[in-house]
Amino acid sequence: MIIRRADKSDLNKVYLIEKDSFQEPWSRRFFEYFIDSDNTVFLIAVEEDVLGYIIWQLESTSKLKNFEDLNTGHLLNLAVGREHRRRKVASSLLERLFMEIDKYKPVATYLEVACSNQTAVNLYLKFNFQILSLIPKYYRLGGDAYLMVKVLF
Ligand SMILES: CC(C)(COP(=O)(O)OP(=O)(O)OC[C@H]1O[C@@H](n2cnc3c(N)ncnc32)[C@H](O)[C@@H]1OP(=O)(O)O)[C@@H](O)C(=O)NCCC(=O)NCCS
Repeated sequence: MIIRRADKSDLNKVYLIEKDSFQEPWSRRFFEYFIDSDNTVFLIAVEEDVLGYIIWQLESTSKLKNFEDLNTGHLLNLAVGREHRRRKVASSLLERLFMEIDKYKPVATYLEVACSNQTAVNLYLKFNFQILSLIPKYYRLGGDAYLMVKVLF
């Protein structure tokens, strides 16, 4: 498995994984935007095919309480193709992400995850994210989310 930066030619496969992975998938335009955005890390895991992806963005004004004036990162998206799950693809993407973002010196990285998504919550706990709070009705269809944070420095 290779982990590398995503480019436009990867987006068809990325978008297929997105649609198959989430009840409320991002639109394709979001992915196009993040390919070209500054202060963003958009990585994919590849074998012959795209296995999965992760997108993270640096935020200079954080929405995390007590971190407002500090560099924090937002883990915006992570998914692995159904047929490639449970092979440490997400773990490899996260490991590489934390190496890549080191240059930004973020004090923390946060994310929102559906409370019902125990698989992803387990993954993030394993990577030392902590549940900070619950965001009621975070999703359009009404599901609650956890705000999870990993302090880095
Ligand atoms: C969550 C997701 C990205 C995990 O990807 P993955 O490549 O299968 O994960 P890994 O193989 O690296 O697993 C790492 C850890 O995650 C947890 N985990 C992964 N799959 C799990 C499952 N089916 N049940 C419980 N825990 C699970 C475990 O702690 C696992 O460690 P272990 O294998 O030592 O037990 C994948 O299931 C996915 O794409 N789901 C749909 C999209 C999604 O929920 N994205 C996250 C949104 S916030």
